[in-house]
Amino acid sequence: MKGSDINKAVELLKAGKLIGLPTETVYGLAADALNRDAVLSIFAAKKRPAFDPLIVHVHQVSEMEKYAYVDEFTRRLAARFCPGPVTFILPKKPVIPDEVTSGLPTVGLRIPNHPMALELLGKLDFPLAAPSANLFGTTSPGTADHVLKSLGNAVAYVLDGGACEVGVESTIIKISSGEIEVLRLGGLSLEEIEAAAGKKVKAVKTSSSQPEAPGMLHKHYNPGTAVEITNFESDLSKYKTKRIAVISFRTRNFEMPVVFNEALSPSGNVREAAKNLFSALRRAGESGAEIILTELLPEEGLGRAVNDRLKRAAAK
Ligand code: TXA
Ligand code: MG
Repeated sequence: MKGSDINKAVELLKAGKLIGLPTETVYGLAADALNRDAVLSIFAAKKRPAFDPLIVHVHQVSEMEKYAYVDEFTRRLAARFCPGPVTFILPKKPVIPDEVTSGLPTVGLRIPNHPMALELLGKLDFPLAAPSANLFGTTSPGTADHVLKSLGNAVAYVLDGGACEVGVESTIIKISSGEIEVLRLGGLSLEEIEAAAGKKVKAVKTSSSQPEAPGMLHKHYNPGTAVEITNFESDLSKYKTKRIAVISFRTRNFEMPVVFNEALSPSGNVREAAKNLFSALRRAGESGAEIILTELLPEEGLGRAVNDRLKRAAAK
């Protein structure tokens, strides 16, 4: 069931249940982060491997200190970007259960920039552990209906906060000795981080088979249909025996027939493309196509995060 009853969400969370949480990035599957059983039921509902830690959502920057040791540099960046699409990996305090962090000594903290999520967090005396509200390895949900479709009865109630504004997950950053490492590209661009920090990001560690952010596996965001990255300039006739879905950056027209043709941003705006990405992948996956052809965006702003997701959706 979905709705906008925040008090109902509060009661369910207090009782250790799971709810669908709207955020500016994607919907989360939320539970009381200090309740071990509730946290374990998140892993079960998502069929998520226990080695992949959860992000903890808090109400305001001052509250981060309750759950982690926050250095001066992080405090400055958090004051600039929170609430917003960024997660900080910090040394955890003992109050955060090991189940949340998969045994790591660090915890990911974030303040979601969504009015409903903030109102809810303001009414709770515990933080919310919330991964994206999809089955492990599939596309992340951008609407309450996506959550219900993906998780069904595993979620007691979905707070319906409309379609997510950003569309891709938060940027995950880790600060060590004053240097910024990006563990996941996401809704806050490298350009914005570098401008605020007054220095270059030291490293971008994206997907691998042994990632530093354990959820950054090479293969992810599977829409249920094979995805292939092409530039559309080359000969597409090799696909002509197949039913083709196209997800392009700007609008494109084709001579050969396709069963689905959507542009992520007809005007070529990377931010708009990020917002549309996961829903386009879902629709293409449901179009009856045998293959989804797509293309990479310019490597700038949120284009980097979109390209990261597309490459992982296309990973064999
Ligand atoms: O935008 C978002 O971040 C969304 C919304 C719901 O807040 N959440 C989200 O959660 O994307 P999830 O679970 O799908 O992705 C969390 C990522 C995983 O790749 C996980 O490995 C990484 O965060 N992570 C969590 N805690 C970590 C830690 N202590 N150290 C390194 N990586 C961590
Ligand atoms: Mg996820």
